[in-house]
Amino acid sequence: MTNILVFDTTLRDGEQSPGATMTPAEKLRMAHQLDALGVDIIESGFPVSSPDDFAAVRKIAREVRRPGIAALARATPGDVDRAAAALEAASRPRTHIFLATSDIHLEHKLCIDRAECLERAATAVHRAREHMAEVEFSAEDATRTDLAFLCRVVETVIEAGATTINIPDTVGYATPRDIRTIIETLYAAVPSLRDVVLSIHCHDDLGLATANSLAGIEAGARQVEVTVNGIGERAGNASLEEVVMALAVRADSWPYQTTVHTREIFRTSQLLALLTGIHPQPNKAIVGRNAFAHEAGIHQDGILKDCRTYEIMQPQTVGVPESRLVLGKHSGRHALARRYRELGYELDGDDLDRAYRLFKLLADQKKRVLDEDLIAIVHHGTMDDVPRVYRLRSLDVSCGTRRAEASVRLEDAEGNARTGEGTGDGPIAATFEAIDAALGVHVQIDDLVIRAATPGRDAVGEVMLRTHVGGRSFSGRAASTDVVDAAARAYLHAIDKAEHARALEARALEAAGDLWGV
Ligand code: KIV
Ligand code: ZN
Repeated sequence: MTNILVFDTTLRDGEQSPGATMTPAEKLRMAHQLDALGVDIIESGFPVSSPDDFAAVRKIAREVRRPGIAALARATPGDVDRAAAALEAASRPRTHIFLATSDIHLEHKLCIDRAECLERAATAVHRAREHMAEVEFSAEDATRTDLAFLCRVVETVIEAGATTINIPDTVGYATPRDIRTIIETLYAAVPSLRDVVLSIHCHDDLGLATANSLAGIEAGARQVEVTVNGIGERAGNASLEEVVMALAVRADSWPYQTTVHTREIFRTSQLLALLTGIHPQPNKAIVGRNAFAHEAGIHQDGILKDCRTYEIMQPQTVGVPESRLVLGKHSGRHALARRYRELGYELDGDDLDRAYRLFKLLADQKKRVLDEDLIAIVHHGTMDDVPRVYRLRSLDVSCGTRRAEASVRLEDAEGNARTGEGTGDGPIAATFEAIDAALGVHVQIDDLVIRAATPGRDAVGEVMLRTHVGGRSFSGRAASTDVVDAAARAYLHAIDKAEHARALEARALEAAGDLWGV
């Protein structure tokens, strides 16, 4: 069967989703999971866009060795060189250059003519090839580009050394028929296209991203660009799980294969949701909470008799845990380890000890501990992305209908106690004020999301927030059976990140001082 390369752009195009910003440590964590998922190429960021993005690409390039690592660049020497610098340590680096080619973009955004576009594209690709062997070129807004001009662009950049040509449907405007026409025309008009890899990159503004990606593959694309959970600009990108599972389930229609380990799909989706706070809607294909839930009596009856009656794929194929009901407070460490193994997590030593401690605490508070709880535990228990500076030692809240009061006791890294009190129109506002008072800070909240991570009255509540501290944006998250407790911990998580960033900057300044003899 023909192989289709899976180019995952969750950490670049996906991160462009409003609110999906990740720290370099979070991106690295996600990149390791994408590696476990088996994608061929990870687009790790846009190095010139910020020092954090540069750092994230560099970290991933150093530490994630199996897949190709790509970094985005505009068609300028500065961007191309910065991408190459960030990718220096990658085992298989790829610069991904993009330049708009449609008249709308050329005239109104870039204010250049077609000749200048060809010149810039060729120069940038040529320069990138001086740094590395793999160079991808994307004709931004390709699907609204004059087709004859698109053919000239593609021919020009292949001549300049591009090894992958990507056709983005940047604004999600194309239909499957448009995609087929564009790709067939390109193959007919540009013979050298057969010597490189053709790629398809679709956005979901009309809900057609998956269908368009599959149409692209039918027409000859051998790389597909996707994101986990379909996150991305505006309505998002083609979703990895949908494209991969369409190819796997309907091999009779599409005789193509990918190297994705489908059993890692659910875990990857959950990790991304945890890191970004953006959860797939319950009815999202493949990874939504209801994707394998059967409510109607007739359906349940059919499933019990033979699951093929209402299931076109089995939940286990994509790593969705088989049974929803698991352990209770009398369960032992071995049973916990075994259940984690069934869920695909190999925990031992310290990780298992920590998960077991959290599990016991939870089992004391909840009657039933579900698989979702265990997943939340393992992520919250092992994902300290920054060193903890402040710990919550106690939190007392009293509230009426319009006013709440809170008092907190925190402990800093040296073991010093810090206490504070606050009031607010609700328990969470009062708690944040009490923490501000204890630490002498003022943290601005830009976004706060509270959700039930697990079903039922005794659900685990998860709090995700985005804050502004000292002019910079930091996210925080935590889970607990009490949402006020979770909110306090999420708030401290964001403050810890701000402290960590401040310490890193101070260290960098000190190092620069040494370098310049200051
Ligand atoms: O959608 C788009 O055009 C892009 C390019 C940068 C490839 O994401
Ligand atoms: Zn895109």
